[in-house]
Amino acid sequence: LVASMEEVEQTYIMIKPDGVQRGLVGEIISRFERKGFKLTGLKLFQCPKELAEEHYKDLQSKPFFPKLIDYITSGPVVCMGWEGVGVVASARKLIGATNPLNAEPGTIRGDLAVQTGRNVVHGSDSPDNGKREIALWFKEGELCAWAAVQEPWLM
Ligand code: TYD
Repeated sequence: LVASMEEVEQTYIMIKPDGVQRGLVGEIISRFERKGFKLTGLKLFQCPKELAEEHYKDLQSKPFFPKLIDYITSGPVVCMGWEGVGVVASARKLIGATNPLNAEPGTIRGDLAVQTGRNVVHGSDSPDNGKREIALWFKEGELCAWAAVQEPWLM
């Protein structure tokens, strides 16, 4: 059974500076690969303050906003586009709850993190935000359309 094209979504996943500095890049990427999603973009990137502020603009009024911006810009992040059926919600499940202490074991945050302010990874919260964030973090030409090996049970 091959899913219809309408169900194919894009999500923006980002390994935050703590994930990069702790050497968790491979571990995190492999969880999305093994699940069966398709990588469409990948780069190591030092995020400028303005971009971090735009990415998190919905949280501008929160008391933790300045610290969040300092954290995201404190070192390089790994920016990724991932594609697949239901990838937005599924990636959020793989990532786990915002507060790693509430994240289930088996999730990335549940297995690898302790603090909300150091929760190693970001994932878009809706298909619209997936598109918005990929467009925000990647330039045209940095994303690749490519054909995965034909394994229809994953699609
Ligand atoms: P949010 O979009 O609510 O969570 P998520 O990343 O799970 O979608 O918040 C964005 C980031 O802001 C979150 O990953 C960590 C940070 N944050 C704090 O530092 N303190 C907080 O109390 C909250 C809610 C978030």
